[in-house]
Amino acid sequence: MNRSITLRLVGFFGVATLSTFALISMVLYGVLQRETERHERDQLESRMSNVEYSVARAATPEHWDRVVLPKLDALQPSDGSARLWILSADPRYRYGDPPAAAGSDGLGTQAPQPGGRRLATLTRTMPALGERPEVRIVVGVDPSSNEQTLETFGHALAMLSVSALLLIVLMGWWIARIGLRPLKCLSQDAQALRPRNLSQRLPAAQLPGELRDLAEAFNGALDRLEAAYTQLEAFNADVAHELRTPLTNLIGGTEVALARPRTALELHEALQSNLEELVQLRSIVNDMLFLARADQGDAAIGLVQVSVAQEVARMIEFFDAIFEDKGVSVGVEGDLQARAAINIALFRRALSNLLQNAVQHSPPGARLAVRIARQDSSVWIRVVNTGATIPSEHLPRLFDRFYRVDAARRDAGGVRGHGLGLAIVKAVASMHGGGVAAASGDGVTTIAFSVPAVAA
Ligand SMILES: Nc1ncnc2c1ncn2[C@@H]1O[C@H](COP(=O)(O)OP(=O)(O)OP(=O)(O)O)[C@@H](O)[C@H]1O
Ligand SMILES: [Mg+2]
Repeated sequence: MNRSITLRLVGFFGVATLSTFALISMVLYGVLQRETERHERDQLESRMSNVEYSVARAATPEHWDRVVLPKLDALQPSDGSARLWILSADPRYRYGDPPAAAGSDGLGTQAPQPGGRRLATLTRTMPALGERPEVRIVVGVDPSSNEQTLETFGHALAMLSVSALLLIVLMGWWIARIGLRPLKCLSQDAQALRPRNLSQRLPAAQLPGELRDLAEAFNGALDRLEAAYTQLEAFNADVAHELRTPLTNLIGGTEVALARPRTALELHEALQSNLEELVQLRSIVNDMLFLARADQGDAAIGLVQVSVAQEVARMIEFFDAIFEDKGVSVGVEGDLQARAAINIALFRRALSNLLQNAVQHSPPGARLAVRIARQDSSVWIRVVNTGATIPSEHLPRLFDRFYRVDAARRDAGGVRGHGLGLAIVKAVASMHGGGVAAASGDGVTTIAFSVPAVAA
């Protein structure tokens, strides 16, 4: 349902008003109706008691003609708003023309003439007295004036309800418009947001309480969007920059090779060096593809339960030649019994990145350590090396893509990293539902990631 809030509110106001007024009208109408009925009964009763008073004392036809008949005539108004009849087996004691239909005692209705107005009636039987036989007295009053009062009152109530409805709908519309004005301002503010000024935010503090949460949630979404957008922009720039260096080397090397005639050996060397650059390019592209997949929220699949210490030992064996080259030694410490559920290929990739970094940044002859520790439902693998301390301001960004602590040194000969190694460690950890951590102080650097533990 996408009907406007104003319309909905007006609709609700209308329904609320109408039902309130309908209820009030029904109650008032009911009360008035009962009152008119009571009034009518009182009228009938008072007439009846007048008639009864006379009839009860009439025991002879003479008394009847002399006292009762004039009294009955006097009791009957000429405008026909009230009538009375006496019904009797003896025609001398009858009254009223045409005679009333004989009904049962009590309240009822009568039409004096066929098709005429119905009167409200009260019938009562008087026992015989002296010569007079039993008679039945019927008194009737015209209910139309009471009915008219009721009808007028009903009309007034209906008019009142309709006017109130109109008034409330108009006022409701006005109130809704005023009440919703902040929403309109909010949407105008939101419309003004553009990718160019992503740092702009909605003025949440100035909004009424109900909208503040919405605006704050929206601003939160904008914060995340801005961060992602800025990261993406930086990432694009980084990607271009990273690809440019090997490409420049490739082009430069090839141009030099083509500058003059070359021997087969020289061409072979040129191709060899090109191949190295191409391998570099491929590894950057592969790493980026891997990270892109991890970004999509891919979870590690094909998990197997392994002994973490054994897996670490295997990886160290694999790095043996590199460790020997640099004269470093590696020890595995901590909880050697710990077992984890891992994707072996991903785990090796992460651990090898950490070991590579550790070897690269430790002085020749140093000692590295891989510490295994269980913590809650995770197993942490910490790679510790000695070497230059990483300044603390760099630690939070260490796992960012293309982030290198000493950006200037990266091209200064030796092994050149792309700054993707730790980003991949983080991606592997999060694909396993784990985390990463980095600490550095007093020449000792520890970089760690975690994977889910399983019972040993
Ligand atoms: N053990 C460590 N000791 C000191 N500094 C480290 C260590 N590990 C990582 N760093 C710093 O963190 C940065 C990021 O590391 P990362 O592994 O992501 O990139 P890289 O090693 O430069 O390149 P890549 O691993 O992609 O070849 C490194 O450039 C380095 O400055
Ligand atoms: Mg690295």
